[in-house]
Amino acid sequence: MTTSEAVNRSQVPEAFDEVADRYDLMVGLNPGYHAHLRASAQVLVDALAAAANAAAGMAAPSTHPVTVVDIGCGSGASTRALVQTLDVAGLDYRLIGVDGSAGMLREARAKTWPANVSFAQGRAEQLADLPELGGIELDAIFAAYLVRNVSQRDDLFTTLLGLLRPGGTLVVHEYSVAGNRAATAVWSAVCWGVVVPLGWVTSRRTRLYRYLWRSVIDMDSVPALRTRLRDAGFEQVRSSTIGGWQRGIIHTFHGQRPKRS
Ligand SMILES: C[S@@+](CC[C@H](N)C(=O)[O-])C[C@H]1O[C@@H](n2cnc3c(N)ncnc32)[C@H](O)[C@@H]1O
Repeated sequence: MTTSEAVNRSQVPEAFDEVADRYDLMVGLNPGYHAHLRASAQVLVDALAAAANAAAGMAAPSTHPVTVVDIGCGSGASTRALVQTLDVAGLDYRLIGVDGSAGMLREARAKTWPANVSFAQGRAEQLADLPELGGIELDAIFAAYLVRNVSQRDDLFTTLLGLLRPGGTLVVHEYSVAGNRAATAVWSAVCWGVVVPLGWVTSRRTRLYRYLWRSVIDMDSVPALRTRLRDAGFEQVRSSTIGGWQRGIIHTFHGQRPKRS
């Protein structure tokens, strides 16, 4: 794979290696990037807090910290959003960031984290085989800007469902413009007018950002993604769009593993 070739989905983590040292700079130029991640992280934390409140009323409430995985954690922006929202909620937690890109993980690990945060390298498709997760039932999984990079999304959701404890929560933060002409037009204009040129300025590379445009155009519509989640076995499936110019472009999806399954 040369640096001028188009990226296909299976090569995405390696393509992120090429821009890893410039990724934080790039997303820092995107107004709302971190606030939007926090808004989706809040959906996950609200679900965990509701479960903790329900458990507190039980005869033998759990004393274990909740375990959360941030799949496709990249350089740690989504992990940071989770840490911030989990800390504000006062939850006792263990958080594991997982990514397929060694370069992005290097950037994440170079940051300062609380002792209950760790990172592991692995593909989302093989998450169930990751030694770091061996035998652990997860309370929640966060996937920010990951799902559209996975070709076999039904298999991915089945895997994630199987990793969650009964009642556990999946939150997906993702682009989706299919079926929305206004959102598609705004996305194309911003991507070709701003994102691709900025990618060139920050990293002297554009192929990942050209892939970004195409991957968003090809992504499931919002109703289609909700249907995929339901078909995989998730309950309480709902979605909302975030604010700002990305309204109708970036969405938060929530699903829960059935309490009895
Ligand atoms: C756009 S970045 C988002 C990073 C982070 N979640 C954030 O919100 O800033 C997408 C990340 O997903 C990772 N990724 C893409 N496909 C993957 C896969 N199949 N398995 C694991 N990681 C993957 C990439 O390496 C990259 O770090």
